[in-house]
This record gives sequence, structure tokens and C-alpha cells, in this order.
Amino acid sequence: PSGATAANAFGEEQEALVVNAWNAMKGDSASLALRFFQSTEPAAICVGSGWGKTKRIFEIAPGAKQMFSFLRDAGDAPLENHPKLKAHAVTVFVMACESATQLRNSGDVKVREATLKRLGATHVKAGVADAHFEVVKTALLDTIRNAVPDMWTPEMQAAWEEAYDQLAAAIKEEMKNAA
Ligand code: HEM
Repeated sequence: PSGATAANAFGEEQEALVVNAWNAMKGDSASLALRFFQSTEPAAICVGSGWGKTKRIFEIAPGAKQMFSFLRDAGDAPLENHPKLKAHAVTVFVMACESATQLRNSGDVKVREATLKRLGATHVKAGVADAHFEVVKTALLDTIRNAVPDMWTPEMQAAWEEAYDQLAAAIKEEMKNAA
């Protein structure tokens, strides 16, 4: 064995795949955030147990809506005017981008200690479970693929997956400490 890991394979090219996609998408972050959480656009990707329509967070996990304090009382009101929801989606994208840069630099994702502590506590308190991170990952990849279809490649998907997985692993680990 060469000792090469997936993280070691994360180089400038992988970082660029993540950062370039985000740069192409971020101008439209309001509608992105909305699509990230809620969309009914059909696409042939595998979600959960079967092949079906592209599902976003609140479709895959309707219960997730109850986790967001500011949505709990919103009923069926439209989501587009929720600045906090938009902020969360953008945060996930931005932090995944930062992870890509860290992976390229050091082969490791290090979230600032204070930030990580807060993230661990917030997500435990909100009732977020490991499975929700998979839901969010599916939604993230789906959103990117739909936002930049001309740029989308298996390599781009792999780079985003790696950046997101390592970030999610750091948060999940901290959630164990906070629980
Ligand atoms: C809050 C980031 C995954 C649900 C937050 C906050 C940030 C954040 C920065 C603001 C509060 C704080 O700073 O402590 C992230 C990142 C994620 C992630 C980077 C993935 C890598 C998830 C997942 C869920 C989730 C998987 C569940 C579907 C929530 C909820 C809140 C929150 C419910 C509290 C919102 C509120 O009521 O104010 N997250 N999050 N997050 N996140 Fe996440």
C-alpha cells in the first residue's frame, strides 16, 4: 500500500472543481438556497430506497422542517422569505468550499475550535441525526448539478463529496462530544 488516501488525492485540481462551481453559482444564492431545501424537479438519481424524482431536504426528510426553530410555526407558508434558511444553505456551501481549500493545503479539514464547538451544540440541540447529513449531501450535490450542468462531471461530484464528507465528519464527531 502506498499510503495514499482519498484526502491525499485532493489537490489543486479538486479544489478548483469545488471553488469554480461555487463561484459560478453563488451570484444566485437566494434561489439556490431555496432549491437546496425544496424542489420538485424530476431527475433520475437514486434517493433513499429507490430511483425517483430529485428530492431536496424537506421532501426527503419532511421532519427536518420541525428542526429549524424559525420554520416550526411557519406552516405551509412559502420558504423564500426565510433569511435564516438561506443563510444555512449558503453556509454549508461556503464551509464545503473552505474544506476543499484545507484539503488541498493540508489533506485535513480543521474547523476553528470555537466554531466547531458551537456547531456541535447547535445541531445536537436541534435534533439533527447522522442520517440528516446524508440528506443534506444529496441535496447539495443535486443543487450543484442543476445549477452548473455544463460544468458537472464525475470528478466535480467526487471533489464536492470529499469536501462535504470531511466537513460533516468533523461536525458529527463534535456532536458526539456535545451530546
Ligand atoms: C444551524 C452549518 C448540516 C440543521 C447551523 C448553523 C451553521 C450550520 C453555521 C448556525 C448556528 C451555529 O453556528 O451554530 C452547517 C453545516 C452543515 C450543517 C456546515 C454540514 C456540513 C446540517 C444538517 C441539518 C442541519 C444535516 C439537518 C437537516 C440545522 C438546524 C440549525 C442549524 C436545524 C438551527 C437553525 C435554527 O433553528 O436557528 N448549521 N449545518 N444542519 N443547522 Fe446546520
